[in-house]
Amino acid sequence: MSESSRDTAEGAGWGVSERGEYLRLVPRQAEKISWLNPRHLWAARNGVLASWFGDPTGEVRARWAARRAAAGAPADRVIRRDDPDRFSFLVIGDTGEGGEPQYAVVPGLLKEGRDTAFAVLASDVIYPVGAADDYGPKFFRPYQDYRAPVYAIPGNHDWYEDLAGFMRVFCDDTGPLPAGPKPRPLSRAWLRSLLWHRPRPGDGEHLDEARKLRSSPAQQAVQPGPYWAIDAGPVRIVGIDTGLLGTIDAEQGAWLREVSRGPRPKILVTGSPLYVDGEHHPCPVEGGGTVDDIVRDPAHRYVAAIGGDIHNYQRYPVRLDDGRTLQYVVAGGGGAFTHATHTIPRVDVAGVTEADFRCYPLRGDSLAFYSDLYGRRTRLRRFFSLTETEAAAVIAERLGIGPTRAPGAPARVTRRMRLVAGLLGTGRRPDRGKRFRLPVRKAYQSLFSPGSATYSPPFFKSFLRIDVTPEALRLRCFAATGQRAQEVTPPVEDEVTVPLP
Ligand SMILES: [Fe+2]
Repeated sequence: MSESSRDTAEGAGWGVSERGEYLRLVPRQAEKISWLNPRHLWAARNGVLASWFGDPTGEVRARWAARRAAAGAPADRVIRRDDPDRFSFLVIGDTGEGGEPQYAVVPGLLKEGRDTAFAVLASDVIYPVGAADDYGPKFFRPYQDYRAPVYAIPGNHDWYEDLAGFMRVFCDDTGPLPAGPKPRPLSRAWLRSLLWHRPRPGDGEHLDEARKLRSSPAQQAVQPGPYWAIDAGPVRIVGIDTGLLGTIDAEQGAWLREVSRGPRPKILVTGSPLYVDGEHHPCPVEGGGTVDDIVRDPAHRYVAAIGGDIHNYQRYPVRLDDGRTLQYVVAGGGGAFTHATHTIPRVDVAGVTEADFRCYPLRGDSLAFYSDLYGRRTRLRRFFSLTETEAAAVIAERLGIGPTRAPGAPARVTRRMRLVAGLLGTGRRPDRGKRFRLPVRKAYQSLFSPGSATYSPPFFKSFLRIDVTPEALRLRCFAATGQRAQEVTPPVEDEVTVPLP
């Protein structure tokens, strides 16, 4: 096993210069998505419109469901596979920006995933708006050599064109929806429809060509819809679709309650993680209750809930009153730009503390990465840039947590380091008040573009491999840094074994 970021700086991908072979796979004219570019922001406006004028996701989803039912998709939305009692699968979150970080994950994924039965893409399959013609460079090309089926749940970005691209690729080439009912003039829905972003005319004309890249029989999969369950070996994997705003509609809620019954141990996959950044987000179900209520119900036998949306890895082992431990995981590090972890406050949620919490990248590495980005962007490198040792030391001081990497020479924490850490959003111990922070948390506000040339290794990307037996699940988070060393032997950044009931 190779060194991870928890062992050494080299294990994190710092200080080495041999780039990975993924570069050969990157398309020559890879699109660079910049979340500062007004064109991308304007195209991705439907989430904001849904929050202002009412969210049409549930209604549109019902019309997609009717189309799939008419085409003969199973009413219970269960995919019944014939995997043996012992099998493995991959979970990859927030993949589709089509840039170097997405492709950098591929070699390690092919290596660690070579004997897996299938992969699940956990939300945001295609940025910025889920267009059908983006599936070539952002899905079919990167995963062309993965020899097994890929299932997916959509994220908010896949919904920015009413899910049309996603339905074509994953749901048996379902064609576009006919126009919905005309809204009453001057109503909220009418205003929304005036401003609504719609697919480019002719979008999808290159899809047939792109599909050839994953055309072998072993790679094919058809889903009953954007939300589904997979019965595989001894477990049931339940994938939900949280739409534009991170909620689920009443019809899907009723289905989720139904499909959660029964003795099989279950794993939830969602585009809205239930615990993230030290907070609990139970995910409301239209008409009452939450997704987390359903997950915690002992009769439903969930053992883990894995969510994309936030582009890093986090794990919260929550011990419930009845003595069970549920693993709540964030797994959105599969390709898009990296969300900071150094902005996660000292963890204390649902009984989970720093002693049990895990994340990747480590907070110190995240701060070093962002300090470098800000330094380059602002041309104030001498002020901003922190080495990974300095960053780890100032994190340890501010959050009052122990060193997370086997310590080398301890760095002296200076006023500049404290100032940079504070500006870049590192929290403080609760007794120390809030200060001004630069926007590192929300991609939309950030001062840098994730796909820009200044975005260089280590990328701190990750994917999950889950090994299933009748007795237990073994969940491992593997890293991809963009460096050759971690491509050859992807480091294990976290590992947990979950006994099955
Ligand atoms: Fe995302």
